Amino acid sequence: MAMTSRLVFLIAFLVASSCTTEAMKKKKVTNIQFYMHDIVSGPNPTAVKVAGQLTNSTSSNWIASTFGSIYVIDDPLTATPQMNSTLMGRAQGIYAMASQQDEFSLLMTITYGFVSGRYNGSSFSVVGRNPVMNEVREMPIVGGTGIFRLASGYCLAHTYSMNEMDAVIGYNATLIHY
Ligand SMILES: *[C@@H]1O[C@H](CO)[C@@H](O)[C@H](O)[C@H]1NC(C)=O
Ligand SMILES: *[C@@H]1O[C@H](CO)[C@@H](O)[C@H](O)[C@H]1NC(C)=O
Ligand SMILES: *[C@@H]1O[C@H](CO)[C@@H](O)[C@H](O)[C@H]1NC(C)=O
Ligand SMILES: *[C@@H]1O[C@H](CO)[C@@H](O)[C@H](O)[C@H]1NC(C)=O
Repeated sequence: MAMTSRLVFLIAFLVASSCTTEAMKKKKVTNIQFYMHDIVSGPNPTAVKVAGQLTNSTSSNWIASTFGSIYVIDDPLTATPQMNSTLMGRAQGIYAMASQQDEFSLLMTITYGFVSGRYNGSSFSVVGRNPVMNEVREMPIVGGTGIFRLASGYCLAHTYSMNEMDAVIGYNATLIHY
């Protein structure tokens, strides 16, 4: 009996002290900038269309004709807009053309994983609406791994350059994490 209650006390103490250390850790704010290269054309695309409605060339509404298309991406993330600059990471995931009218927009479900520098091995994930024709698009960061475990935050994306459907997108990500 005495043994059991001592054990219960010990477990309660360990739980309480681990909670305290978690709570005592201060949250950090990290800002990261990079450029994402989304290449649809040519022999080495980084974004491939995997689903969509049969396009109807007679349709006059371009947004409606793209509605339902799904792309899987593995886009390089670089330090400057030049493709040959330092590779910081890769954006892997799915975007879907989720708008029927008015404003062309994507649903982004993408993990941004880092492969060099101080964030090497860590990642964060974005889920959100991306009205790509807007100058700046804000998307929520819903979590992360490694340094960014338990992260929340947001990113601001703007189109740096566009060539047909190939785009270079500048990202400013703000993460709050332990
Ligand atoms: C394409 O649009 C035309 C005119 O709206 C329609 O008659 C035709 O059935 C459509 N074709 C397909 C494959 O949806
Ligand atoms: C990177 O590519 C640009 C052209 O896009 C070129 O001018 C530059 O020399 C290249 N830099 C390196 C380090 O290869
Ligand atoms: C990133 O981390 C991996 C795994 O720890 C390591 O193999 C690799 O050399 C690192 N890359 C850079 C550029 O630091
Ligand atoms: C981040 O935001 C600043 C301020 O708006 C801007 O000057 C910079 O180009 C952005 N960075 C990227 C990678 O888009």
